[in-house]
Order: sequence, then structure tokens, then C-alpha cells
Amino acid sequence: MTGMQDLTGGRELVMVSNRLPVDRVVAADGTTSWRTSPGGLVTAVEPIVEQLGCVWVGWAGSEDEHIEPFEIGRMRLEPVELSHDDVERYYEGFSNGTLWPLYHDVIAPPEYHRHWWDRYVKVNRRFAERVAETAAQGAVAWIHDYQLQLVPAMLRELRPDLTIGFFLHIPFPPRGLFEQLPWRRSIIQGLLGADVIGFQRVPDAISFRTIAERYTHTQALGNTMVLPATPDAPGRTVLAQEFPISIDAAAFAEVARRPETQQRAREIRAELGDPKTVMLGVDRLDYTKGIRHRLKAFDELLADDEIDASNIVLVQVASPSREQVDAYRQLRNEVELTVGRLNGERGTIGHSPLVYLHRGYSREEMVALYLAADVLLVTPLRDGMNLVAKEYVACREDEQGVLVLSEFAGAADELKDALLVNPHDIEGLKAAFLRATHMPQEEQRRRMQGMRRAVHDNDVEHWASAFLGSMTSISETRATAQANGTAEGATGPVSLVPQAFVPRSVGDRLRRIATASSLLVATDFDGTIAPIVPRPQDARMLPRARQALEMLSAAPGVRVALLTGRSLGGLADTGTGSEGWIVSGSHGSELTGFDVSGVVGTNGSGEPTDEESDRLDRITRRFERVLGSEPGVRLERKPFGVAVHTREVADPEYGRELLAAAVEFGVAEGLHVREGKQVREFSVRASDKGTVLQTIREALPPGPVLFIGDDVTDEDAFAVLGPDDLGIKVGEGETAATGRVPDPAAVAAVLARLVELRTGIVIGSD
Ligand code: ADP
Ligand code: G6P
Repeated sequence: MTGMQDLTGGRELVMVSNRLPVDRVVAADGTTSWRTSPGGLVTAVEPIVEQLGCVWVGWAGSEDEHIEPFEIGRMRLEPVELSHDDVERYYEGFSNGTLWPLYHDVIAPPEYHRHWWDRYVKVNRRFAERVAETAAQGAVAWIHDYQLQLVPAMLRELRPDLTIGFFLHIPFPPRGLFEQLPWRRSIIQGLLGADVIGFQRVPDAISFRTIAERYTHTQALGNTMVLPATPDAPGRTVLAQEFPISIDAAAFAEVARRPETQQRAREIRAELGDPKTVMLGVDRLDYTKGIRHRLKAFDELLADDEIDASNIVLVQVASPSREQVDAYRQLRNEVELTVGRLNGERGTIGHSPLVYLHRGYSREEMVALYLAADVLLVTPLRDGMNLVAKEYVACREDEQGVLVLSEFAGAADELKDALLVNPHDIEGLKAAFLRATHMPQEEQRRRMQGMRRAVHDNDVEHWASAFLGSMTSISETRATAQANGTAEGATGPVSLVPQAFVPRSVGDRLRRIATASSLLVATDFDGTIAPIVPRPQDARMLPRARQALEMLSAAPGVRVALLTGRSLGGLADTGTGSEGWIVSGSHGSELTGFDVSGVVGTNGSGEPTDEESDRLDRITRRFERVLGSEPGVRLERKPFGVAVHTREVADPEYGRELLAAAVEFGVAEGLHVREGKQVREFSVRASDKGTVLQTIREALPPGPVLFIGDDVTDEDAFAVLGPDDLGIKVGEGETAATGRVPDPAAVAAVLARLVELRTGIVIGSD
């Protein structure tokens, strides 16, 4: 991983999870060693903290054993001791016998026992106390997963100076299931102790916010939960939204590129008897992973001779997991029975169609397996994300291989080019397996390219930056607010953005788009976020609008675009623009902050061709001769045209006549003419804000668009908006926009509201 800048603003990072990234293993001869802990949590989180450095509080995996803090690389590990009883009641009991099945669609029946719950509370308190003792002043504490849902509130009580984040690696259940839990209110209150709560998928976050509103005195404003002040605590906000986790894709690709890994992949195929097709499954041996369904489909295909048993191998790697929990023991027995039966019935002396491996492997061996596999089967009945799917894609630089992926895994949101399946539908599974084994190389390539883009665009660095970035900006806003004695953190209830400026109709629709995982916020400049002034070079963005746009641009999943009729040079004169913004000038003829290759209406470089330049020179000379000496008329040369301004012509009627004459000339010359308020633009190249807005949105991940503008030229942009987008017209006049606000100050209020809905951060009025 490269370039993990300091994401915690110089503060100490404390990771908190049930398991430390390493387990202590005691061999038969009594010697001890450390090995990487199982599961996706550690795979994802470890590469980040190796870069950032951290304190990690967690359990070392052994019972009744006191272990002193120790260091590995840049991590200081702080082991929390669990007794035999703790393991039985808190870990195997409430965590894995109650919460795990409840949160995974009750695939196995959850059990509710009061003594399990009591121990869960006790152990959560132990973790919170340990973090409270360990963390430096003002540190960032990041708590992970379902085993520790009470820790955020417990920790806040002990250490209000900390910034607290919580990420749930598994699904959050729908309300109908969550309500079964006798301790539902305590869990929600525990989680609401955090400043940021992250989920894997959009429906998880929605479900949490709905349940939190029902069971606590909180109100959801978009992604933000607003907690009222109580006699003991000030009001505050909590950001609860999706942050889909990922992997260190570059690290997997690096291992895949090594000649020795590729050699090992060839050896694996040879050891399997060089069959035509190698299928692979890699899972913890967990009933959520759909292993039974997968084996059933495979068995039926063999039984019906739809695949040739002598020419195919399914390698099922199933790592041992939670073996003291009944449901896991049962699953293991069942799977092992099926393996024996299937090979007994379908195999031959020299060949077993199913290879079952019940053990852990090194990263190198896993990658070699991914390279050896023609098809990867990921068929969970429910899974928070499933990192195995992303690992396979990251390793396949050859752009070959087929991923069969359950639509009930979080990864299906991003890996849309996989063969998506419903694992409950055995016929559907069989059809997908067959299709995978026969997929032409070209189709494999096309699908793999799409999936690889998705995995590289959202790797674990991106995930960690988004999550820690949200935590940091919340704590900074809180510090400023406390220093000023305003907004969040003050003693009264949380003050919300003044409502007066945001009409209800706009507010309701803003709320709808605010929670989209990907959002484009595009706005015109003059008359929209900058009040009209007599001299164009004096126009300035309203400070509140600028602040809001900057915060939106920094928020995960949001892009900000400025679409102006001004030339980019003219816009620069006003000091406008910011890092990370897309800026389009001259009505779409110019574009920066964006990969312009292939952009319609520009030649990519934003430069006119020689022919266009000559034509433009001729036209400019003509305008200068005819209009240049008229008092109050200003001619503005743009990269692709000339604008005639009459705002300063003393007699408005005379100004209109001059513009009419200019238009007559422009039309006769075949120029593209654009009308604005007391300005006409003549361009040698066809482009408009609608075209450029379309171009920008097509290049970004799908999601709604907010566009705000005041002028006639902004109508082209309103015209391309769809039913899920929001167009806001500023001021009077006919429009295709569905919302309207009176002036730029109201636009600033709308943008500030959007910031609040998206991030929970309140921006005061100017
Ligand atoms: P979960 O977190 O539920 O276990 P994921 O698919 O998200 O599921 O993550 C599993 C992680 O464990 C992946 O990084 C995968 O490579 C790793 N893994 C799974 N089985 C094995 C195994 N037998 N040996 C080594 N690593 C494994
Ligand atoms: C999943 C969970 C993790 C857990 C891991 C291994 O990834 O989300 O919290 O650590 O499985 O399970 P185990 O019970 O062995 O820690």
C-alpha cells in the first residue's frame, strides 16, 4: 500500500477488536508461537495499521492466560484476558450463538440466554476499561464488530476526550429480525456512543437508523442521527452510513506477479491431475457461507452428467472455525460426510472430483490457489462483504477466471460483472456453474476488467481514509464548536442549520439524495453561489457556500463540479476552485479536475484547433470594430468564443438593441449563440452545460445529481436530469428544474443542509 498519509490528524490510533491480529498457539511440546488470526476483519485492517501504527486491544485466542503487552512492527498489542467462562458465554455464547445467527438472517436459530448477555456486558466493559487506561489524550479509538457493540457508549462515559468510531463487519439485520433481541435497546444505545458508525451496505445503515429512531430519542437526518441533550450529556450527532470494506489489492497483485507463485499455481493444477476445469471455494467453515448448497449443486451436475467428473475438480478450502459451537460442529460433520459420499460415488481410483482441505494456508499458497482456479465459487446465504471474492479478482492480472458470486454478499454491490446467483436456487446455481465452465475467454476478460476496476477503485486504503476522514472531520468540527460555544458540543440541544432558507419541498428531496453512496453536486457560479456584481472580476463565492462545497468534496462518495459560462481564466480571477473539484468553463468547452479524454464537446486538451483559432480571431476583430467603442460594452475573449457583456450600458433598452445586433451577426456567421442575463456568448464549438454534465456523470459511479443554477444557460443542465436527480433554479423565471430557491444565500443554506445530512457536521450561517 502506498501513500497512507496521516489520517488521524497526528493523534494516536487505538484499534479494538475481539481478536488481536495474531493468535497465540501452544504446540504439543509446550512451545508457543504466534499466527495470523482467522477471518476477513484481520485481512482488511492489518495492512492499514502496519502503515499507520497503532495500539491494538484484543484477545489473543487462548483461555485464562495473562499476556503482557508486546510489539509487532508498528503495532503495540494489548491483550485482554478471557477466562474459560468468558469464552463460553461471551464469545461462543452471546457473540456466536446469539448475534452471529441473528445478524445473518437467522440461517441458524439464535439462542437467547440471560447469563450469556450478562457476560457480554461484563466483557464489553473490560474492553472499554482497557482502552480507557491505554489510550492517549484525544486519541482516535476504532472499535470493530458485533462482539463489542456496547464498548462505544461505555468508552465515551469513561473517556469523553476520545473520538470513537465503530465498524460492523457483518450485516446489520432488518428491523423484523433485530426486534427479537431482548436487549435490543441496550445494543443500539451502546453503538450510539460512537461518533461514526460504519456498515458494509446501504440497507444495513438504513435499518440501523430506522431502529435507532424507534428505540431511542434520536432523529435521523439523512445519514446523521441527532441525539438530544440530556441532563448529563450535551446533544451530539452520530454519522451512521455505509463504508464498504476492501482489501490491500496491490499487495495481493504483487504476490500473484511473483514467478514462484505462478510456478506453484501450475504445480497445483498438475497435482490435481491437470483437469480441464478447476473450481475453487475458500471459506471459514461457517453455515452462512452456503457450502452445503454449493456441494449439492456440484453433486447434481455430476450425477446428471452435465459436467464430466473425470475432467473437473472442485477444491474446497474450509478453514476451521468456532469448533466448540454446536451449529459449527454439525456443519463440519455434514460437509465431511458429503465429501466422502460424493467422492465415493462420483470418483475413480485415480481421480476425486472434490478435494476438501480443512486447514489454514499462507498468503502465498492462497494466491497460488486463486491463480490455479478457472472458477471461484462464492455462494454465501448472507455475508457482510466477502473478501475472498475481492482477493480472487485482485490476483487475476491475466484478466481470466470467472467469479460466481451470491447476491447476498456485500461484494455483489461492487462486483456487478460477476455471475450473480441466489444460492437458495439450486437450479440457478447449477446453471451458473455450467455457464462459468464454458465462458469464452473474451467474456471472461470483459467481466474481469470491470471487476478489477471496482476492486482497485475501492481498496482498503480508500475505505480506511473514508472512515478515519469522517471521524477526524467530526472531531475537528466538535473542537471548533466547543471553542466557539456554538452548535454541536454546546450544552443545549444540537442546533441544526437554520431552516428558513431551505424550502420544505427542496429539503425533502435533498434528504432523499443525501444518503446515496455516490453523489454528484454540480453548481453554476455567477448568480448561484456568487451574487451578481457590476464587474465580473469582483464576483466572489459566498463563504458558507464555499465551506459547504469543500466539505462535500471531502466527504466519501461525493464529487463537486462547478459548471460556469465563464472561461476557466475568468473564473480563476475570482479565486474560485478547489483541489478535487471538477470545473467546467465556457459552457462545457473547457474542463479540468477530471479525465478529459473522450469528453464530448472538447478536444480533450481544452485547446481550440488552428482552424477554430483563426475563425475566432476574425470574429473578435469584427466585434471589436463594431461594438468595441460603445460605452459600457465589454468584450470577453474565451478559449472557444467571445462574450458580449452589456451589464454596464447605462440605458438597458440600448443594451438590448446592441445584443440583438450582435446575435444577428453571430447567427449569420454560423456561431453557436448562448443567451445569458445582459450577455450573449458566441462560440466556435458546440457545447452546453447539459452535455458536459452528462459527460461528467457517466464517468463517475452511478448515483443521483444535484444541479443548481440561475441562468437560461443552466436550463440545458436541468433538461438532462432524471427523476432521481434534483435541479434547483435560483430566482424567478421559467425552468425545467423541480426545486426553486430565491437567491445565492438560500443556495448556501441548501448546500449546508446537504453537508449536515451527509456528514452530520453543522455549518453556521455567514
Ligand atoms: P470471513 O471474514 O467471514 O471469514 P471473508 O471472505 O471476508 O470472510 O474473509 C476471509 C479471509 O480469510 C480472507 O482474507 C481469506 O483469504 C482468508 N482465509 C479463508 N480461508 C483461509 C485458509 N484456509 N487459510 C488462510 N486464509 C484463509
Ligand atoms: C468474521 C468476523 C470477525 C471474526 C472472524 C473470525 O470475519 O467478522 O469478527 O474475527 O470472522 O471469527 P472468530 O470467531 O474466529 O474470531
